[in-house]
Amino acid sequence: MKILVIGQGGREHAIAWKLAKSKRAEAIFVAPGNGGTSHEEKCVNIDIDVLDFEAIKQFILDHSVSLVVVGPEDPLVQGIKDYLIGCDVMVFGPDSVAAQLEGSKIYSKEFMFENNIPTGEAKFFSEARLAKEYLDKINFPIVLKADGLAAGKGVLVTENRQEALDWIDDVMENSKFGDAGQKILIEECLYGTELSFMGIMTPDCFIPFETSIDYKPLLDGNKGPNTGGMGCMSPSPFMNDELKSYIVKEVVNPTIDGLRKRGINYYGFMYFGLMVKDNKPKVLEYNCRLGDPETQCLMMQMESDFLEILLSCLEDKKPNIEWNTGASMGVVIASGGYPNAYQKGEKITLGDVGDCKLFHAGTQSLNNELVTSGGRVFSLNYQSKTIDDCKKYIYEKISSVDFSNCIHRTDIGDIYES
Ligand code: AMP
Ligand code: GLY
Repeated sequence: MKILVIGQGGREHAIAWKLAKSKRAEAIFVAPGNGGTSHEEKCVNIDIDVLDFEAIKQFILDHSVSLVVVGPEDPLVQGIKDYLIGCDVMVFGPDSVAAQLEGSKIYSKEFMFENNIPTGEAKFFSEARLAKEYLDKINFPIVLKADGLAAGKGVLVTENRQEALDWIDDVMENSKFGDAGQKILIEECLYGTELSFMGIMTPDCFIPFETSIDYKPLLDGNKGPNTGGMGCMSPSPFMNDELKSYIVKEVVNPTIDGLRKRGINYYGFMYFGLMVKDNKPKVLEYNCRLGDPETQCLMMQMESDFLEILLSCLEDKKPNIEWNTGASMGVVIASGGYPNAYQKGEKITLGDVGDCKLFHAGTQSLNNELVTSGGRVFSLNYQSKTIDDCKKYIYEKISSVDFSNCIHRTDIGDIYES
């Protein structure tokens, strides 16, 4: 079977690598892919943008692709699945209506309120004046969120009224995030430990993946600005059986029922972003994709044939996923300056990473040379019996990946209670 993976990050490299291990995978095209996917067994990069639906459709028809696996949220929210209807291809990912769970924070909040899913209280605004007036009536800290997709930058948690007023001006009056910020939410600030719970959602059930956590702050000690994630480990030390069954009962099952009530047939990945306090979760967000870099750890942990799992789910058969009993960990190597401005085009030197798996994220092959092309450039991953083993091994090897001004955290694997 020929498969097309949409995306270009570390998550998509890990997905393509794992799919390629399946006997049934004949060829894996990655659009557009990166400097890592281009060298992976059975994988071929194709130079098509993730939002160029017409070119994607033509490629699928020309190359008899049977399955499309969509990595990032943008093409899902913009309706890649809807666009490919009638193409005789299976698409793993929700349609544009279902993807509103991630694409519109107001849609998802209303969905949660409607289905009694635990989440922070919030009010919605489409006029800056009313949003600002509301700030006088509430206690800080608060959370401000742009309704639409803003490349992970649309949320401000603040204790400062002036900062909140400035954010409203920037986002609503000066369109900092374009249309995505024309409507906003002002949300109650939640406290606790953040936890991601991911898996596959079908109309009848949710198939959870092994648990994982990512390390969002840039710097050691969980300090500094938020990033997409500077490392991850699996399983999560914060998950326990009681919490898991609570999540299933209070969050997962009502989400399945809520989708059914809205007549939505959801087939795809689902990532619940949760805040857990006193072993009780509240939903921060839904994502209709897998996490990055969590996926890199999860693909290392998964024993089962990933392609068979995806195909079973699309045929409404509930697969049993086997997971490695040990642990896996990944450390992100990023360009200095990230998550703000950083240099691209830095020449990369790759030494011997031993038994680590190096997933590329922001790399590109240019004139037969590997150069940086993004903020998060690689993640170095290892699977072993314990997190301590992983940590020791990865940090022994990490200096074999080098480029000018590269940075990484030195404490991935440490446990921070927040
Ligand atoms: P979101 O895109 O909604 O997940 O928000 C991005 C990040 O902002 C989350 O990962 C949290 O760290 C933080 N955040 C979002 N909503 C809240 C909230 N209600 N209370 C506290 N922190 C939040
Ligand atoms: N690592 C967090 C995310 O993918 O949203």
